[in-house]
Amino acid sequence: MSDTAPRFPRRSALLLLGTAIAAAAPSGVSRARARARDAAAPRPARRVDGLLARLTLDEKISLLHGATDPDPLGQAGYVPGVKRLGIPPLRLADGPAGVRVTRHATALPAPVLLASTFDPDLARRYGQVIGREGRALGQDVLLSPMVNLIRTPYAGRNFETFSEDPLLSAHLVAAEIEGIQGEGLVATVKHFALNNQERDRMSVDVRVDERTLHETELRGFEAAVAAGTGAVMGAYNKVDGTFACEHEALLTGILRERWGFTGFVMSDWSAAHSTRASLLAGLDLEMPDGTHFGTALATAVRDGGVPEAYVDRAVRRILTVMDRFGLLGGSPPPRPDRDARAGAAVAREVAEAGATLLRNVRGTLPLAEGTTVALIGPTAARPLVSGGGSAHVVPEHADSPLDAVRPRAARVTWALGEDAFGKPFPADAFDPAFDTEAQRVAAGRTWTYEGTLTVAEDEEWTLVLHYTGTPPHRPRVLLDGEDLFPVAPGWSEYFTGGLLTHAEDGLSVRRRTLKPGRGTHRLSVTAQGHDTGGLFRLRRITAATRAEDVAHAVRAARAARDVVLFAYEDAIEGQDRTTVALPGNQERLIEAVTAANARTTVVLNTSSATSMPWLERTGAVLQMYYPGQEGAAATAAVLYGDTDPGGRLTQTFPTGDDRHPVAGDPRRYPGVDGTELYTEGVHVGHRWYDAQDVRPLFPFGHGLSYTSFAYGDPDARWTADGLEVAFTVRNTGTRDGVDVPQVYAGPSPDLRLGQPVRVLAGYRRLALRAGEERRVGVRVEPRTLSSWDPRAHDWVLGTGLRTLWIGASSGDLRLRTTARVTGPDRSAG
Ligand code: BGC
Repeated sequence: MSDTAPRFPRRSALLLLGTAIAAAAPSGVSRARARARDAAAPRPARRVDGLLARLTLDEKISLLHGATDPDPLGQAGYVPGVKRLGIPPLRLADGPAGVRVTRHATALPAPVLLASTFDPDLARRYGQVIGREGRALGQDVLLSPMVNLIRTPYAGRNFETFSEDPLLSAHLVAAEIEGIQGEGLVATVKHFALNNQERDRMSVDVRVDERTLHETELRGFEAAVAAGTGAVMGAYNKVDGTFACEHEALLTGILRERWGFTGFVMSDWSAAHSTRASLLAGLDLEMPDGTHFGTALATAVRDGGVPEAYVDRAVRRILTVMDRFGLLGGSPPPRPDRDARAGAAVAREVAEAGATLLRNVRGTLPLAEGTTVALIGPTAARPLVSGGGSAHVVPEHADSPLDAVRPRAARVTWALGEDAFGKPFPADAFDPAFDTEAQRVAAGRTWTYEGTLTVAEDEEWTLVLHYTGTPPHRPRVLLDGEDLFPVAPGWSEYFTGGLLTHAEDGLSVRRRTLKPGRGTHRLSVTAQGHDTGGLFRLRRITAATRAEDVAHAVRAARAARDVVLFAYEDAIEGQDRTTVALPGNQERLIEAVTAANARTTVVLNTSSATSMPWLERTGAVLQMYYPGQEGAAATAAVLYGDTDPGGRLTQTFPTGDDRHPVAGDPRRYPGVDGTELYTEGVHVGHRWYDAQDVRPLFPFGHGLSYTSFAYGDPDARWTADGLEVAFTVRNTGTRDGVDVPQVYAGPSPDLRLGQPVRVLAGYRRLALRAGEERRVGVRVEPRTLSSWDPRAHDWVLGTGLRTLWIGASSGDLRLRTTARVTGPDRSAG
């Protein structure tokens, strides 16, 4: 500590908390270790001390919260600098799949697709692309990566994060952060911690025991800190009764004292709930505004309610990161030009490398050149580039799969199959008639309609509203007096992206499924023209229009040799999905199309695990998630076998809604009375399937190649650096290909802690030519062989004879060996 550093009161709150997490804060040995690390750390830069001494209280406070950017570039956040002292402003942009600003940026494949590559080196290069672009596009801080574990298949942001597995997540987040920051952009690992779902994300109170926390969710964050992340974003949710952004045990006890984090902590957008409690707990920057860290903080300091030393501490942390990235001192590093070509190349490489082939029978794939191909599904014609919400990126171009397949086939047809945007109403449905396909509303005028809608069907159908503008500009549509599209409170309404929120011509879209019954119904519509005028249309999806779409797809499938059916599920930040089944009519569409043509490949543009009651009828299933701007070319390259599908599942696919880690227990998900219990404990993801002996649809780590691989001669020995596992991999097929052999470790006989049946201990992505054989070495880190001991509040190495399995997935374990693990325990700290 420097001489000017404040003396802080003892962290009494932490000691009084008495919760599992409070206990996880460093004690005894690790506290001493943290002190030793502090002493060894370089003194905060003289420059930062100098600035702190010259900043007024108001200037300091202006650095601790977001504000309106006078010169906005479309980014999510802005923190003004202090011009007179040469402190520049900070611009903070999302996000996980590319830089989200008003200008075009490279839309990289969704992070879950990156993770599917099992390739930290590619994650580093993915980070480099975003890092360079962020700098080129005027940004200083990137609000990424997201490393929350995939705990439930329903979570709306599963596409935006990596995996259900702590080890894989930790490797990837570390590499990506190195890539981002190596280009001079500050990375922000998010959302700390336990933001594992979107449902009730602003309020849900997650109850988790100390051991589970450390062995699952925290591993990725810890790896991010070890990789030097400049910033951490606090989550919306509560943890053990306290909002994450004012959780001292997390923000100070674990993050700083245990892990030695020296960067700054910002809140998620409007996730701060207090002034004093948040600042004292360790929140440094409130985003996106100064609700709690603005005037309220200034007043609290002036009134003596908050010691100014805490303000200084937060300012020091922010300035120290700025200094580390060369942003102080008047000559910031020059901003590079955007390299769109290099970005596109990495986007393509990741999409191909992460493409995960789940099934391939009867030689369905790869497709032969020059056949007749029927492409079916909306995302075949309109590419689903990225998920919705803050990870949505707008690239300058994105081809469709239709464009990409056309040059390879003798003839390509396309059928919609599943309609999300509706068909026009019959001309006589409205009385009096109006232009339901393009009703214009003049600028500054209000357009009203009072009339009737005659409905021919007695079953449920969907009314689809297309309109210009955002939710407040949405026309009000009342059917029999009921407002069909009320503007919902909260932000999720405003999130855009994905496929469903906008029609092809850019109009916003809202859907409402209803069953008014056959007959004539009162309809009233009010639309405002606002500044530039408006436009809206009303459409419908009925059982009859669905049947027509399916029939058209079936005709196209029959007439072609090969069928590629693009199924989608539109995930968006702010909401969870309610089922693992494909939405809408897609299951029936797949049943009908596969019955018409067995050479059907289903390409999944989905965000997370999907159930597949239709699986056995298909020829092949290719998981592409949201593949980014180069997704169409990458998909075609895999379909035609230009490249071997090298992706593996980073999450287990359940058979249905009733058999997965959070199924059937609302206390586990989505929570009861605002509280959620992580009672699966350390058995997250594939570990739960093993522990419960439940057979999934597809296991973690699964993914097929166009060739085949054999493993042999396993060997494992304990060394000073951990376990060295070695085995032989041989490409036994006739094509070159990519394999990702995985090593799993069984429990330690010496620990009296209930341990997972198996944990992922390591993996290796490798390309082998046809017939090639290679000896592969995988090092298993001591930490991976350790458990968190809740009595010692520390890691303990799992010594004794450990079983190691080598396999092609967590459900396809082919080799088994053992090794004796002995101390000393060098895994902690
Ligand atoms: C999201 C963050 C994002 C922020 C700024 C929030 O709603 O949860 O992940 O970085 O908005 O866009």
